[in-house]
Amino acid sequence: MKFNMDEQVSRRGTLSFKWDQGEALFGDSEVLPLWVADMDFKCPPAVIEALTERAKQGIYGYTIRSREYVDAIIGWFQKRHGWSIAPSWLTDSPGVVPSLSIAVEVLTEPGDEVILQSPVYNPFYNVIVKNGRKLAESPLLLKNGRYEMDYEKLEMFMKNGAKLLLLCNPHNPGGRVWTKEELQRLGALCIKYGVKVVSDEIHCDLVFHQNRHIPFASISQQFADITVTCLAPSKTFNIPGLQTSFTVISNPELRRKFVNRMETLAIGEVNFFGPVATIAAYQEGAEWLDSVLEYVHGNVEFAIAYFSEHMPQLKPVRPEGTYLLWVDCRALGLGSNEMKQLMYQEAKIAFTEGSIYGTGGEGFLRINLACPRQLLAEALSRFSSAVAAKLGS
Ligand SMILES: Cc1ncc(COP(=O)(O)O)c(C=O)c1O
Repeated sequence: MKFNMDEQVSRRGTLSFKWDQGEALFGDSEVLPLWVADMDFKCPPAVIEALTERAKQGIYGYTIRSREYVDAIIGWFQKRHGWSIAPSWLTDSPGVVPSLSIAVEVLTEPGDEVILQSPVYNPFYNVIVKNGRKLAESPLLLKNGRYEMDYEKLEMFMKNGAKLLLLCNPHNPGGRVWTKEELQRLGALCIKYGVKVVSDEIHCDLVFHQNRHIPFASISQQFADITVTCLAPSKTFNIPGLQTSFTVISNPELRRKFVNRMETLAIGEVNFFGPVATIAAYQEGAEWLDSVLEYVHGNVEFAIAYFSEHMPQLKPVRPEGTYLLWVDCRALGLGSNEMKQLMYQEAKIAFTEGSIYGTGGEGFLRINLACPRQLLAEALSRFSSAVAAKLGS
């Protein structure tokens, strides 16, 4: 392999959200962290070089958004996803979560119902509730180890007046890459009941083999008209700390509302490093990404085999995309606090405890697989010893 994903890069003492909060969050600095979604792999060499050159300039002034940056984004989505984006549809944002929150704010009124499909990335809850909107939770259905949408429940909420749906495509933490048919069925309901869609597609590039990411807005003009798509190079190329992302909104009316709010908050300017990294990543990072996908897929296989051999009571949900493995640990019969104790105190590892993702999450754990295999093996070994002790006790 051209890129060495087995390299263990020490991140402790780098102000890392993942590696430097062991004591504060888990009561022990030695806890192995496989939780928050960033990768323990170095970024594509082209990104490191571009950022190093940028840093060498030594003056970090206000910066402009270049045509090259816009073209890099458009080129990537055309080539990788067959999606044609017009330059005018793009708006820069410091993060996908801020974009989700602003979209909820401008597309609904206080008290309106906003639908999400649990278990789902936990900030989805905040951006609804903290904006004073009502939560309409439609739990996904786990059928034969694969999540499906509950169209009946979704339609019930829409019929009752829900105004907006937050879609997570691909889905974190369930690992589904929604198919065109599934999205078409969902979109048809949204059109029927006048429901708008905010589609968080931050994991769009992290898709395995025969699966294909379908941008919801790319399916039809009608779908595009009701949709705000939130995107970023951050998950794909491991640059979330640069806080650089963008939205795609082709409907001028929706875009005007979104941009107006961004301008009110004065948060739409690009930062000094983000666009440079974005250009390098989208123009030169494809080969690196393909290696990462291959490596992470190897980790998926490794982890699934490990569970089957050493912890057969626990059932991983095979992901079609994302670098996150969602594991059904309900056989342990533990509540969320006991699960945390098992991880942090007994196993000395930190996966993410599932109840934070809402209904259907309790009893599950989410493992971040974007790390060297040796680290994953160590974490699984610690976990299985603790599980064995728990089951034996
Ligand atoms: C579905 C999803 N959306 C958004 C984010 C974070 O986006 P940002 O850091 O750009 O706010 C994550 C990070 O894990 C995620 O999984």
